[in-house]
Amino acid sequence: MAENAEADRCRQTAALLRAAIDRGGDVAVLTGAGVSAESGVPTFRGVAIGASGHSTGRPRHEALWSEYDPMHLASIEGFRADPVAVTRWYAWRRSLVRNTDPNAGHHALVEIEAIVTSAGGRFTLLTQNVDRLHHRAGSGSHGGRVVELHGNIHIWRSLSAGNEFAGAELDELLADDKGFPPRDPTDGSVLRPCVVWFGETLPSDAFEAAAEASSSCAVFIAAGTSAVVYPAAGLVTAASQNGSATVEINADVTPASGLVDITLRGASGIVLPELARQIKQQRPR
Ligand code: OAD
Repeated sequence: MAENAEADRCRQTAALLRAAIDRGGDVAVLTGAGVSAESGVPTFRGVAIGASGHSTGRPRHEALWSEYDPMHLASIEGFRADPVAVTRWYAWRRSLVRNTDPNAGHHALVEIEAIVTSAGGRFTLLTQNVDRLHHRAGSGSHGGRVVELHGNIHIWRSLSAGNEFAGAELDELLADDKGFPPRDPTDGSVLRPCVVWFGETLPSDAFEAAAEASSSCAVFIAAGTSAVVYPAAGLVTAASQNGSATVEINADVTPASGLVDITLRGASGIVLPELARQIKQQRPR
């Protein structure tokens, strides 16, 4: 019974996406850590749900903020107090996400982007993830846009001049943790990851693009986000107030669940591919 109801909601969502796409409507998708859970990247809150749809289906990770203090690891005050521990933690996460691959949910979003843009609509992927797995899956390569709301863990910058380091140069700077925190070779100032920490503002161009896409799209999907961290969580409200059809895809109940028109309860690595499949099946008449 519950499974049938879930399947009905999925068909209903595919039908409303298909209808919006056929009218050339825009689609915006907000993603959070849950979308990367099936790639083996731990979430910050809740429990990571693996590809089988069960928390036991994949190596299970405790949510990061149940093990670590976010104010220690994700604030400038925490960084200034203990730069070595904070650097070590981000160097570990950078290495973890580099050694994993995009999952079926990431790939399905690329398929949905291609369907939307080929029908003349705009597709905007608003991600709170800093892991770049959407880019690696190919998001943004079919005429859509990827907006990184919380930065990118693969770029680090110096605290004083803001000089940026990435790739092999950054590998070298992060190679020896006895030399932590790494420093800008030109001015000696400490490096930090280019991610947005608590108390910091989001890059203004990214947030403006996100607000615009959320308040003008025909369909808005929030996938794998706990919807508790603002201002990103407020995008769900913006979309709903704009009159967009709103959908949540999440393994668990969140504050967004009561706001959206349709909730699809499950793992994004299962639900998103199924949605993409059904949108393609319901071809335009
Ligand atoms: P969270 O870790 O807060 O939430 C992840 C959500 O994904 C939870 O609601 C889980 O129930 C859900 N989930 C877990 N596995 C899933 C799966 N396979 N499929 C679908 N849903 C699943 O992640 P965010 O909402 O992204 O900030 O967190 C927002 C921000 O808080 C992050 O960007 C990070 C953090 O502090 C920064 O790093 C700046």
